[in-house]
Amino acid sequence: MKSDHLQALLHPTSIAVIGASNNSEKIGYAVVHNLIESGYQGDVYPINPKSEEIQGLKAYPNITDVPENVDAAIIVVPAKYVLGITEDCGKKGVKALLVITSGFSEVGKEELEEQIVDTAKSYGVRLLGPNIVGILSNKENMNASFAGFLPLPGQASLISQSGALLVAMDAATYTRGIGFNEMISIGNMSDIQFSDLIEFMGDDEATKCISLYIETINEGRRFIETCRQIDTPILALKAGSSKRGAAAAASHTGSLVGATKVYQAAFKQAGVIQASDVNNFFDRTLALTLQPSMRGDNLAILTNGGGVGVLASDAAERFGIPATEIPQDLQEGLMDYMPDYGAAKNPVDLTGMANTERFHQTTKLAFSHPWVNGLVVIICETQLLDLVEIVKGVHRAVKETGIKDKPIIVSLVGGDSALEAGRWLIEHGIPAYNSPDLAVNALAALRDHGRYGSPGPVLTSSENSNDSQTAREVIAQARERGRTGLTEIESRKIFAAYDLPVVDTRLARSEEEALDAAQDVGYPVVLKIVSHDILHKSDAGGVKVGIQNAQELSAAYQSLLKNAKQYKADAVIEGVAVQEMAAEGTEVIIGSVNDPTFGPTVMFGLGGIFVEVLEDTTFRVAPVSNSEAASMLGEIRAAAILEGARGKGPLDREALAETLSRYSEMAADLGDDIAETDANPCLVYEQGKGVKIVDARVILKEV
Ligand code: COA
Repeated sequence: MKSDHLQALLHPTSIAVIGASNNSEKIGYAVVHNLIESGYQGDVYPINPKSEEIQGLKAYPNITDVPENVDAAIIVVPAKYVLGITEDCGKKGVKALLVITSGFSEVGKEELEEQIVDTAKSYGVRLLGPNIVGILSNKENMNASFAGFLPLPGQASLISQSGALLVAMDAATYTRGIGFNEMISIGNMSDIQFSDLIEFMGDDEATKCISLYIETINEGRRFIETCRQIDTPILALKAGSSKRGAAAAASHTGSLVGATKVYQAAFKQAGVIQASDVNNFFDRTLALTLQPSMRGDNLAILTNGGGVGVLASDAAERFGIPATEIPQDLQEGLMDYMPDYGAAKNPVDLTGMANTERFHQTTKLAFSHPWVNGLVVIICETQLLDLVEIVKGVHRAVKETGIKDKPIIVSLVGGDSALEAGRWLIEHGIPAYNSPDLAVNALAALRDHGRYGSPGPVLTSSENSNDSQTAREVIAQARERGRTGLTEIESRKIFAAYDLPVVDTRLARSEEEALDAAQDVGYPVVLKIVSHDILHKSDAGGVKVGIQNAQELSAAYQSLLKNAKQYKADAVIEGVAVQEMAAEGTEVIIGSVNDPTFGPTVMFGLGGIFVEVLEDTTFRVAPVSNSEAASMLGEIRAAAILEGARGKGPLDREALAETLSRYSEMAADLGDDIAETDANPCLVYEQGKGVKIVDARVILKEV
């Protein structure tokens, strides 16, 4: 059903326009006009109860009156008629609807939108929108929209949640010289989702880059899974960076999570490259469309200007592909084409003496050198140079090498002739930008794609044997008692069921039991009051650390009970936790939340001011493998601390990554029940000495 219906949507053999009009001020006029003007080869059936002919085509009062089969229908009548029309389309056997009409969930009319989707589904009809501009397809010469013209032809495809942005980008394709194969307005996404279209486009040879403008995603996990299976580069510009629900969060992790961070994590896991703004979206689309991905970190920069070379190096470092010194043999080869005062280390400064011949020879030399994974050529305009001739030389050099599996990007810095030369290059398949940092940024997108490679079909599933049964029993018991906040003892039991290294803790219901427990755990111990009426134990004087012997334990036991009663007279005390006293270590925090879009998501950060003040955290949709967890450890700004700082040796990152991975499995496995969790603090010791979770906290979803 999938491809058949999307085929009808994107490559229809016939289209009905319901609400077609002869009034040139109406959208129903524009859509028919655009279909005809764009050269669409299929049949077009205008539907209008009042007209027999629309723009020279025979019109029908209702879609059911059309004698031939109709593949797709574009709906451009007011919202109140759309439900009835959907029913008619279903009866007629239309396969796909493009609902341009606005006035549904975007203005609070969710119910009407749902009814329309349900009706469409009951007939097996797929629905794009509502609230869309339509579809623009160069492949089909089909402008099935009310945007004035098809985009400049090319090999990128756009799926946009904003209609206005799509129309603006359509126009900009000509000024920017960036071509598109298809532009699809996805609107309210009541039925057809990003994933449906990405899946379909992934098989399309004519699309070399799938560019997405995203405000929200439905079915987040499906999005990740779908993107992971697509080899075509996917680029996303995500709008909306507000913090979500931070104030209402019950856990530490909950208060740190922001929609942006989770989306960024999900994109990374999906292998989706990100754009920072509209310009960057265009710039990166251009590179991803025209050039292959960069399959290693070795970047070479060739230039005729020292300053722009330095700017490019700065950018390279910023975007994660630092320009390191190029190999000696390549340096020596390049020296033949530059004066003695040139520099061949990287950036390679050919100096102001560089002419077409020198750019041609050095490009050829550098591009064909096996060390080079990607090349940036930066050309500054000077009075002596004909920039078009130079870029032709660069282009010829690339052609002569015959290499097709590594990228080259050019930056032309100057005025009109730089623009002209840039346009020539783009037309001939080499992306060109007017500043060095933009060129390096574009190459970084190709490097991102090269790094992602093919992430494989699924989010990592559990490799460990977990005792989820025990965890679920603990949850069920808490639910029976009507609680969503679990006690420390309960939380620990759940953590332990996933083999997480929680400090040894026993529940004691009397002083005698506490003494026995301390004997088992081994002194020194910590005592903590256990009561679901007292969530902030320290505030209630409910924690005593460093208890060295039985005598101290008895005294601590009595004072804890007394403090608890004073703090809250009617608190139900379940007992006292006797806990192993963990040795000092570096504090980190691990946590999880249940993200509304992507579901269970894990967080990692260093403890103390690093999370409190700097919010130095990193996220992933759960579960994550050990190696993915290890890369999370390297992502925080304070990563150097884990490697050993201030004379300390490296910490046990291996054990930490394993703990993080197990933790993510727990979050994913119990995702139906758990809202938020924290392991805070979690202590990391030096290499080989492991990790200890000191405090465990689990909060269940409300049911
Ligand atoms: N079947 C077929 N045609 C019908 C019909 C029906 N059941 N009911 C009405 N029509 C005809 C009308 O008679 C009219 O044709 P006419 O010009 O010959 O009289 C045509 O369909 C359009 O109907 P009308 O009532 O004039 O609506 P409109 O053109 O003013 O507005 C929309 C219709 C869909 C454009 C409008 O409701 C809308 O949603 N606009 C916003 C679109 C938008 O911005 N989308 C999102 C972009 S991001």
